[in-house]
Amino acid sequence: MNTQLLHIVQNMPKAELHIHIEGSLEPELIFALAERNGVALDYPNVEALRAAYDFHDLQSFLDIYYAGASVLLKEQDFYDMTAAYLAKAKADHVRHTEIFFDPQTHTARGVPIGDVIHGIHRACQEGPVSATLIMCFLRHLSEEDALATLDAALPYRDLIIGVGLDSSEVGHPPEKFARVFARCRELGLHLVAHAGEEGPPAYIETALDVLKVERIDHGVRCLEDAALTRRVAAEGIALTVCPLSNIKLRVFDTMKEHNLLQLLDAGLVATVNSDDPAYFGGYLNENFVAAFESLPLGLQHAHQLARNSFTASFLEPEKKQQFLDEVDAYFAAFNVV
Ligand code: ADE
Ligand code: ZN
Repeated sequence: MNTQLLHIVQNMPKAELHIHIEGSLEPELIFALAERNGVALDYPNVEALRAAYDFHDLQSFLDIYYAGASVLLKEQDFYDMTAAYLAKAKADHVRHTEIFFDPQTHTARGVPIGDVIHGIHRACQEGPVSATLIMCFLRHLSEEDALATLDAALPYRDLIIGVGLDSSEVGHPPEKFARVFARCRELGLHLVAHAGEEGPPAYIETALDVLKVERIDHGVRCLEDAALTRRVAAEGIALTVCPLSNIKLRVFDTMKEHNLLQLLDAGLVATVNSDDPAYFGGYLNENFVAAFESLPLGLQHAHQLARNSFTASFLEPEKKQQFLDEVDAYFAAFNVV
């Protein structure tokens, strides 16, 4: 592998647009918080928990992911988790991150939604990188539950830039959440949704047409539908692709079979992200390295992916341009235009 290219990719300025903060909870922190909060875990130690991270699909991961999140009870827990992620992001030369959180996972256990949001937000304010919050609705729950969650979050509206849709995809199509997304749109929130990870390309289409999302999370199955691919490219809808996640959850058998390069070649605004880094074997740079080691990606692709990460962000235009200029200046040193 070209070590200079890897060095360039690791050090380039970048944004992360698909990170579930609960998925950044490392086993060591899970055990520390379990002890601090007196929560019993099903595993005797960190090694046993890590050994259970052997997933065969999205649901087998989600079962363990929700169990891990059960140790989060206090505002300080959410702060500690977020501060740990932001330190990792900084080390990976992330300049800006748009962080997903799942309030229903916590409110169902009696945690006040204000504690969830304040803890994450406090770490973002102190954090070493620019960070904003996207509140996700759990699609395996009802739309009524999502509407109630939105109501509960209204006092914190200004701390959130957008909403998303995550959890078990198949059997829970985007259109199930038409009303709650329409309300969020009226509130001026940005809209994203997971679609085309395990679910069919039709879910990408209804996420766009019914929910009116601005970005698709994952979206890798888009390429199964040529007309949809042309549309997503023409509309400049970004896809937040998560390479290591896709291998761990068996969306692709191996990284060599990952379609990131085909997505870029189709003219799609694809980005690279970590999804749930504590569970899938690495943070953002590990995702870039895994993709660049296995796929015929070069310097031009690195430059494109760094640009895409900011282009697809919900940053204000001026801030976005500053970061894009920083990316271009970084690559100018390597004679890439
Ligand atoms: N929640 C956390 N990670 C997820 C993923 N990859 N897909 C759907 N829901 C999630
Ligand atoms: Zn995700």
